[in-house]
Amino acid sequence: MFIYKAGVVGAGAMGAGIAQVISFSGLPVVLKDTDQERVDKGLAMVRKVYQGRVDKGKMTASEMDQKMKLVIGTTSYDDFKDCDLVIEAVFENMKVKHQVFQELEKVLPETAIMASNTSALSISQIASAVKKSDKVIGIHFFNPAPVMKLVEVIPGLQTSTETVDDAVAFVESLRKMPVRVKECAGFLVNRLLLPYLNEAAYAFQEGSAPADEIDKAMRAFGMPMGPFALLDMLGLDVCADVSMILYDSFGPRMKAAEILGEMHKNNRLGVKNGIGFYVYDESKASDLKPVVDAIQAKTGIKGTPFSPERLVFQMINEAAFCLEENVASPSDIDLAMLAGTGYPQDKGGPLHTADAIGIDVVVEKLKEFSKQLGPRFWPAPILKRMVSANYLGQKTKRGFFNY
Ligand code: CAA
Repeated sequence: MFIYKAGVVGAGAMGAGIAQVISFSGLPVVLKDTDQERVDKGLAMVRKVYQGRVDKGKMTASEMDQKMKLVIGTTSYDDFKDCDLVIEAVFENMKVKHQVFQELEKVLPETAIMASNTSALSISQIASAVKKSDKVIGIHFFNPAPVMKLVEVIPGLQTSTETVDDAVAFVESLRKMPVRVKECAGFLVNRLLLPYLNEAAYAFQEGSAPADEIDKAMRAFGMPMGPFALLDMLGLDVCADVSMILYDSFGPRMKAAEILGEMHKNNRLGVKNGIGFYVYDESKASDLKPVVDAIQAKTGIKGTPFSPERLVFQMINEAAFCLEENVASPSDIDLAMLAGTGYPQDKGGPLHTADAIGIDVVVEKLKEFSKQLGPRFWPAPILKRMVSANYLGQKTKRGFFNY
């Protein structure tokens, strides 16, 4: 199927970023929000990305104007009537998503693909609100969409093979890297990334180390930004929503650190409102210590040791759970983390990291963390099976990969 025109519903940071990516590939794209002010804000975000390229000499001002002409701002669903594919990027509320998909189905051509950029909600449940559920699929971009190469493609229970193939071809046409992911809460990357961010939050609230030191340690490990800078960039409200969805699906091992909820409750949402773990607007500066003290008084846990492994092993363990559930292949899991989060190239992804450390060492260390920090570290069953079969990683020449 050829996509001649695309659409995006929701002109926030993700929606605008996706519209920029689509227009950059040369396709016209309709960008819709509920009122003109939001639409204009979205269009300004798209222009800002192009302006950045002009300022760096990567594109001329007239090329920018050509690309901007491809982005059609609107407040009406009528403008989607000749779109072949629409991506919904509104906030994470199932009721709102259902309304959006029902509106889309009324105006779109029969053959059009209806995609969601949801971070963690069920694609199958979104699809249940429409008749043409075989045309519904997850096409999940990463923040910032203009930069991050990865796009997860997630079929729901009702999605047709044709829709999956068309979505993969569309993502490739945007010069992004599609990875097919079996549907589960958080899909693949958020399912690995959130436990890592959550562990950073536990370390912070337990007074293991200050946020800037943890960020520095993880940058030294090779991550492009530290977990707290990333939490602030993603938005503490978004992270709280995703954490809740993960907890609901996977239970206690994904219980969110109390500080994440407190940040949301105290309206410390991150970069978007000027204050999160870091201060971006001095007029909003306030001390987090009383919040942390109150959490420590409630949980009775403080002074636990910090190490980068504490965070990385959460990612490795969840990658092993994903593998066990066939969410993706070992190489796709590693590729997705490289392209979706900037996991250090030289370490090859969390599963390659585990192979380099030794699966037996990973299991022992997870058990030790489990005793010291809590049962959320209990090793995924596949890791123990691998040890018992001498799949220890590089040292025995076979682990998640062959050497
Ligand atoms: N929009 C557009 N372009 C941006 C941008 C933005 N918000 N932020 C940075 N860039 C561009 C810069 O202009 C620069 O472009 P050039 O190469 O053309 O000069 C390039 O990205 C690199 O930027 P910087 O040099 O300023 O900084 P950097 O090298 O540290 O890269 C980063 C910034 C790409 C954000 C990098 O730090 C990174 O990869 N961070 C990890 C981000 C991450 O983990 N994202 C996934 C989050 S999970 C998610 O999104 C899923 C979800 O559902 C919640």
